[in-house]
Order: sequence, then structure tokens, then C-alpha cells
Amino acid sequence: MLAQMHALALTAVTQAYSPYSHFKVGVCLETASGQLFSGCNIENASYSLTLCAESAAIAAMVTAGQQRIQRLVIVSSGEDFCSPCGACRQRLLEFATEAMEIHLFNQAGDCRVHWLSELLPFSFGKKDLPC
Ligand code: THU
Repeated sequence: MLAQMHALALTAVTQAYSPYSHFKVGVCLETASGQLFSGCNIENASYSLTLCAESAAIAAMVTAGQQRIQRLVIVSSGEDFCSPCGACRQRLLEFATEAMEIHLFNQAGDCRVHWLSELLPFSFGKKDLPC
């Protein structure tokens, strides 16, 4: 499954729309039910409207009726590992399972695995709100 997720993320990179930064990002997420959703970054001439690849994949997942992410793969057109931006870390927190793994692949195919709690320590999330 991880190899398939990596392949889907690499395909998503090729679909990225990034004429301004020329930096392409592709992700593939796996839901707790085992479904896969990929996403790429989508930039805009009004720069701040740019959609990160993670956000695009989360939108596809929620639209399909899924709300729990157990694994995420991120690749980019850069040589080095691409770590999720701060805003996307917070977006991921909203839907992450306790054990969600974040797999970062560089161009050489090396993989680094992180937990969201490492990337977003002392987070503010739904646990902090009355619901
Ligand atoms: N980008 C993502 O899609 N995800 C990240 O986690 C990091 C940054 C995109 C946004 C923008 O289109 C480009 O990378 C450069 O910042």
C-alpha cells in the first residue's frame, strides 16, 4: 500500500499547477477505512489563494464522506524532503487518527516518517473545545 501511495503522490506532482513558485507538491492520504485520496498544489495569480496539496487531498476525502486520516505521503519536485506547511499541519490535525504517520519522500526515494505530534507540538484542536 505504501508503494501505491508513493506512486499516486508522484502522479499528483505531475498535475500540480504552480506557475508562480515552480514548486510542485503531490500527496496521497490513506483513510482509516483504507481509501486513498491524492492532491496537488493549485496556485493562483492572487498568491494567497494558493491551495496546498494536503488541503486538496483533504477536500477530496471529506467530499467522499471520509474524515479520518491514518497515513499521508508527501513528495515534491524539490530534491529534498518536503514537510507540510504550518497551516496544513493544523488542517491535518483536524482529521488525523492518533497514530497517523507522515511519510516524506525525497527525489532519491529515501523516506522519513514523522508523527503529527512532532511536527505540531502543543497543538490546539478539537480536544480543546467543548463539543
Ligand atoms: N506547498 C504545498 O502544496 N504543501 C506544503 O506542505 C508546502 C507548500 C505548495 C504551496 C505552493 O504552491 C508551493 O508549495 C510553494 O510554497
